[in-house]
Amino acid sequence: MEQKTSLSLSLSLSMVLTTIFLLVNLAAGADQYSRDDFPLDFVFGSATSAYQVEGAFNEDGRTPSIWDTFAHAGYAYGANGDVACDDYHKYKEDVQLMVDMGLEGYRFSISWSRLLPNGRGPINPKGLQYYNNLINELISNGIQPHVTLHNFDLPQALEDEYGGWVDRQIIRDFTNYADVCFREFGDRVLYWTTVNEPNVFALGGYDQGNSPPQRCSPPFCVTKSNRGNSTYEPYLAVHHILLAHSSAMKLYRRKYRDKQQGFVGISVYTFGVIPQTDTEKDKVATQRVCDFFIGWIVEPLLHGDYPNSMKANAGVRIPAFTNHESKLVKGSYDFIGIIHYTNANITDNSDILNNKLRDYTADMAAKIIFGLDFFSNEEYAITPWGLQQQLNIFKSRYGNPPILIYENGQRTASNSSLQDVSRVKYLHRYIGAVLDALRNGSNIKGYFAWSFLDLFELLNGYRSSFGLYYVDRDDPELKRYPKLSAKWYKQFLKGRRSTSRVETITSLVSIDHLFQ
Ligand SMILES: *[C@@H]1O[C@H](CO)[C@@H](O)[C@H](O)[C@H]1NC(C)=O
Ligand SMILES: *[C@@H]1O[C@H](CO)[C@@H](O)[C@H](O)[C@H]1NC(C)=O
Ligand SMILES: *[C@@H]1O[C@H](CO)[C@@H](O)[C@H](O)[C@H]1NC(C)=O
Ligand SMILES: *[C@@H]1O[C@H](CO)[C@@H](O)[C@H](O)[C@H]1NC(C)=O
Repeated sequence: MEQKTSLSLSLSLSMVLTTIFLLVNLAAGADQYSRDDFPLDFVFGSATSAYQVEGAFNEDGRTPSIWDTFAHAGYAYGANGDVACDDYHKYKEDVQLMVDMGLEGYRFSISWSRLLPNGRGPINPKGLQYYNNLINELISNGIQPHVTLHNFDLPQALEDEYGGWVDRQIIRDFTNYADVCFREFGDRVLYWTTVNEPNVFALGGYDQGNSPPQRCSPPFCVTKSNRGNSTYEPYLAVHHILLAHSSAMKLYRRKYRDKQQGFVGISVYTFGVIPQTDTEKDKVATQRVCDFFIGWIVEPLLHGDYPNSMKANAGVRIPAFTNHESKLVKGSYDFIGIIHYTNANITDNSDILNNKLRDYTADMAAKIIFGLDFFSNEEYAITPWGLQQQLNIFKSRYGNPPILIYENGQRTASNSSLQDVSRVKYLHRYIGAVLDALRNGSNIKGYFAWSFLDLFELLNGYRSSFGLYYVDRDDPELKRYPKLSAKWYKQFLKGRRSTSRVETITSLVSIDHLFQ
């Protein structure tokens, strides 16, 4: 892979390719496709995150993150990431599994409290060594590292010291942490995500209080916790995340970009949306949900300010950008990471705006009806139109930024069979949808299946799984076994066509009939 290709160069390349695609392939739905149908510099990978796979939670100088605290208090169905997949010790064999699969990229995150145990100050040499080892192992095997700096796991030390993301000091500490990562790893890492899913992090952590750091205020808490302010803190936390992100980006551009030639982005949780009815109210509500979920993060990066609907409904509770902040935030991205699994129906709930006391959710003034319970292990419906819809929105409304699809995948019960046919179907259809979107002019640069291994799922512990590899948790060695989906992805990455009948995957069990 030519790593130095600049995004603008690949942008024009992909425009040329898109034109060719359109000429050649206008009639073909992407139901049969192969790796070769995607541009050469498009990257296919798979993803994990630090707390979800590393284990070694108190080894070699690592201190707790807010997720350790939450899980140890029993809030994650009694499960935790103390051992997880033991990737701290097994990274070498896992990279070999990636090589076997033909992965072109691997998205993982750095545990801030492993690298900087106090959240700032001295580097933990063992933590530094671990990430150097992992990155070197990937690079020497030709796998492109895509690194996230904050994947929900703020050091507990900073939460205790000043409340973490609700205090402005976090901007300084995050920037310093990013500086350490850029300096130590940026000679080999070209793709950096500052913060993963700030929208979901703020909703769970500062509005409903059902995920770390469990801040919320009555009557909005869905847990017993009540040491926050649901009317204000979700907005404040995201404001600080955007400022910290932009500050890190500015630092990268000033100090590292010329030399390292990398890219910095942020990732956003998205879902497809449809108005429940044809009424104007539901249509407007659907737009408002997009503003509140996606526009919240993306519009400041594009225009330097929050969406009007948010400012209108949250009033003084959503922080205003100063001129200086607005300038800092605007344009501070090289790409947007998209996390996508499913769709929702939207109904208007504007009556709630009569309530004086409102949280972020009430300000949205809409009911979001997902087809499944996130805390269960139900499988996702296979409805790739939602991903295409979101990609179209990024293309037409948000200026068609370079996109990396950083998470997408199917959930199954963790004890289900290695013949994970529903995951194969899901990946087949969603990757096909990505190809359609690419041919339709979306500026997509890569796709990462969630997740590489069965890991500690943040909403479900070990009850459900998204992995291409099964991890036998009853085996003290935590042996990995490839599922059907791992074999399918491997065939695809090695250039075999994926067809709706999967008939070319002759080495696999015959699953033709499942695709009728
Ligand atoms: C939450 O913050 C808002 C805005 O600063 C303030 O008006 C309100 O009193 C706070 N509520 C609680 C429960 O602290
Ligand atoms: C959403 O609405 C469509 C009809 O517009 C319906 O078929 C579907 O079941 C609904 N989904 C959910 C999750 O309610
Ligand atoms: C998986 O676990 C669930 C709940 O414990 C159980 O109902 C189901 O039968 C199990 N499935 C298999 C394949 O073992
Ligand atoms: C292709 O893009 C256009 C707008 O650029 C959009 O209207 C259309 O729905 C897209 N087609 C698909 C299949 O997503």
